[in-house]
Amino acid sequence: MRSKYRIAFFSTLFFAMLGSLIISSCTKEGPEGPPGMDGADATETCQTCHNFTETIVAKIGQYENSAHAFGANINRNYEGCSQCHTSQGFRTYIESGEMSNVHEPTAINCRTCHPIHTTYTVDDYSLRTSDAIALMVSGQDYDYSSSNLCVNCHQARPVNPMPSLGGGDVTITNARWGPHYAPQGNIFGGIGKGGYEVPGSMAYNNSTHSTMITDGCVTCHMSTPVGYQAGGHQMNVSYGTSSYNYSACGDCHSDVSGLATTMTEHREEIQGLMDNLQTLILDQGLMNANGMFSVPLTLTANQAGAVLNYKLIYYDHSYGAHNYPYVKALLTNSIEALNPGNS
Ligand code: HEC
Ligand code: HEC
Ligand code: HEC
Ligand code: HEC
Ligand code: HEC
Ligand code: HEC
Repeated sequence: MRSKYRIAFFSTLFFAMLGSLIISSCTKEGPEGPPGMDGADATETCQTCHNFTETIVAKIGQYENSAHAFGANINRNYEGCSQCHTSQGFRTYIESGEMSNVHEPTAINCRTCHPIHTTYTVDDYSLRTSDAIALMVSGQDYDYSSSNLCVNCHQARPVNPMPSLGGGDVTITNARWGPHYAPQGNIFGGIGKGGYEVPGSMAYNNSTHSTMITDGCVTCHMSTPVGYQAGGHQMNVSYGTSSYNYSACGDCHSDVSGLATTMTEHREEIQGLMDNLQTLILDQGLMNANGMFSVPLTLTANQAGAVLNYKLIYYDHSYGAHNYPYVKALLTNSIEALNPGNS
């Protein structure tokens, strides 16, 4: 219902704006339209997108079912948070690198990622940015074409203090210490992008995906949609209780149903390793059950690194799908490092 009202509202607004454009081009006054356009051109220009095809309708339908559109956290509209949690904060950050307080914040929407209503041509569906990212936590590059857009937000925030391999103890003074919620760019990028690569029985290797899937997130998350539930501009791979949109996978994997079985096995294995690591962390009093710390807390580099790895993998939310061999090695070696006698 909500979207039907929206479409009716937009159509009315659209025809009202179009009307005023045509009038303004006849009378040479009134609201300003796109530069250098008369009435006929305006109609044609607008019809590039506002026409009888379902393109916009489909994208809006998918998008309204995406967590992005819900705006659950747009009250995080202040400096340091607004660049990932509000539309205006993101646009300011992309344009000037500034972090800002945003008044009247809006949820991430079409304008956040596309400069729509700028040139009034299909170019307005280009992306606001696809520049490579210097990851905040490691300074290393994330460079996967259109998905660089996503990783402006889907990356770990700076971790302070950051434990260094073979380095001294670290003292945690922030009860929320860690990488924040969405370090998918770091996990997909893999080696050297933020994980604490403690030595152990497993060598660190990235999934072949890290070299073959050149559009990163967009390839798997924005592939051919399943209704409004997943893919396209809904942007999820998993939906419902245990369904997955594997439409992107068939481009490279010939047996997609066999792949689904492998994915289930991997998910269970990674979940099991995460549980083991969490038990060690809690038993040794390195972190509370709610993921917080009683500060100040001094940990060895390996202890802090193991907690960091746990949080990175937990908040990645993909149970290894983003980089199975790498995540498995991080978990296995972190468990070994915390086992009594090894640390
Ligand atoms: C590049 C494609 C494109 C072109 C060209 C275009 N629009 Fe839009 N327009 C959109 C999209 C996409 C939306 C949906 C925005 C949303 O839901 O946030 C939209 C929404 C609108 C709305 C609803 C209110 C709003 O701003 O969201 C109006 C009114 C509108 N357009 C008027 C026009 C007029 C008038 C023209 C021609 C001068 C035009 N548009 C040309 C893509 C386009
Ligand atoms: C680099 C981008 C980025 C910055 C900066 C950022 N966040 Fe987030 N935050 C995210 C993303 C992305 C998610 C969604 C994670 C998910 O759903 O997996 C999120 C999720 C959250 C959540 C919801 C967690 C949940 O369980 O639903 C809260 C609360 C939150 N952020 C608060 C903040 C606050 C407060 C700040 C500023 C101090 C902040 N964020 C800064 C990217 C960011
Ligand atoms: C979070 C960022 C983001 C938001 C928000 C977003 N898009 Fe997109 N959009 C993309 C990306 C990335 C692509 C390129 C997809 C690809 O390369 O397959 C794209 C592609 C498109 C395309 C052209 C390619 C295609 O799939 O047909 C259209 C049209 C489009 N978006 C419309 C919209 C509309 C309408 C909205 C608002 C309802 C919207 N987008 C919101 C990121 C976004
Ligand atoms: C402006 C920051 C920003 C950008 C850009 C962005 N995201 Fe998000 N994303 C978020 C936030 C924030 C959330 C969580 C929703 C909330 O808390 O408001 C989220 C949620 C998600 C989720 C859903 C998680 C769930 O729990 O359902 C997926 C999947 C996702 N994003 C993928 C992408 C992809 C793919 C792109 C690039 C095409 C992208 N995002 C671009 C900030 C962003
Ligand atoms: C190889 C394909 C692939 C790539 C590339 C990929 N993802 Fe995923 N992603 C998945 C799969 C599969 C899942 C679901 C895992 C599960 O639930 O078992 C997932 C889960 C997620 C989730 C959790 C959604 C939820 O419902 O909690 C988010 C958020 C997410 N991915 C964002 C991203 C971002 C951002 C990128 C780019 C840095 C990315 N993904 C790259 C396949 C991919
Ligand atoms: C651009 C090609 C490409 C795409 C798209 C792709 N894969 Fe892969 N994937 C590969 C290659 C190549 C390998 C390494 C050889 C192998 O194990 O089959 C691989 C390996 C894997 C593995 C083994 C573990 C790992 O990560 O190394 C799994 C599981 C997997 N892919 C699942 C998926 C799923 C699920 C999707 C879709 C969401 C997907 N792949 C999309 C090319 C791709």
